[in-house]
Amino acid sequence: MSSIVLFGPPGAGKGTQAERITETTGLPQISTGDMLRAAVKAGTETGVLAKSYMESGQLVPDEVIIDLIKERITHPDAAHGVMFDGFPRTVPQAEALASITSVSHVIAIEVPDDRIVERICGRYSCGGCGSVYHDTFNPVPENGCDCGSWIEKRRADDNEDTVMSRLSAYHAQTSPLANWYQAKGIFHQIDGNRGIDDITQDILRALE
Ligand code: AP5
Repeated sequence: MSSIVLFGPPGAGKGTQAERITETTGLPQISTGDMLRAAVKAGTETGVLAKSYMESGQLVPDEVIIDLIKERITHPDAAHGVMFDGFPRTVPQAEALASITSVSHVIAIEVPDDRIVERICGRYSCGGCGSVYHDTFNPVPENGCDCGSWIEKRRADDNEDTVMSRLSAYHAQTSPLANWYQAKGIFHQIDGNRGIDDITQDILRALE
């Protein structure tokens, strides 16, 4: 089975939608951002290298990311396809991906830059299960997260300065990938400047 790529600027809602699409398709989510944060927390060699790039909003070097993905894709849960969240982000990453697995759909969630800052600066997540919430647009239920283990977590790179660097990196290094995938006829643009449920419906329709 083929894999799916969730593509879009920081804060577009890739992680939010990945959580929902995973429930429907059964495809495991592979988020390079989550993998890097786990490596930073564990203090691995990769984590030590990635930390300064992440804190300054720059992309981590391609070879580090490609090695992470090559290893992750060998896990048994990836045998029947996966949903990539935040990978690939450069043409060399996309070329490496094409050499290890086939991609059937690239879902591009489009959100204007001026909405990104408010989304990222209001984001928090559940320390228990990782579910993502927002101060205004998607607050945690009154009794805490459905997983029953609620600790509010905020990301170190979710501040206004770093968001501007992440957006610059997106426009300079990642958005050119749209043409690369459009030429392959598997690129689906989704208006991400709407309610979360509407976006999920459009993504599921694009995947039919
Ligand atoms: P990563 O963790 O991948 O961050 P990102 O791409 O910047 O994306 P985000 O996780 O910030 O946003 P999202 O699109 O998932 O949005 P979310 O659903 O949370 O990467 C972090 C860093 O790691 C990078 O800067 C880089 O250094 C490094 N890195 C990672 N992958 C790499 C790679 N492949 N190559 C090189 N370096 C790499 O939503 C955001 C907020 O908005 C939430 O609060 C949510 O509740 C809310 N929200 C969601 N949808 C909506 C909606 N429709 N309306 C209103 N609010 C909404």
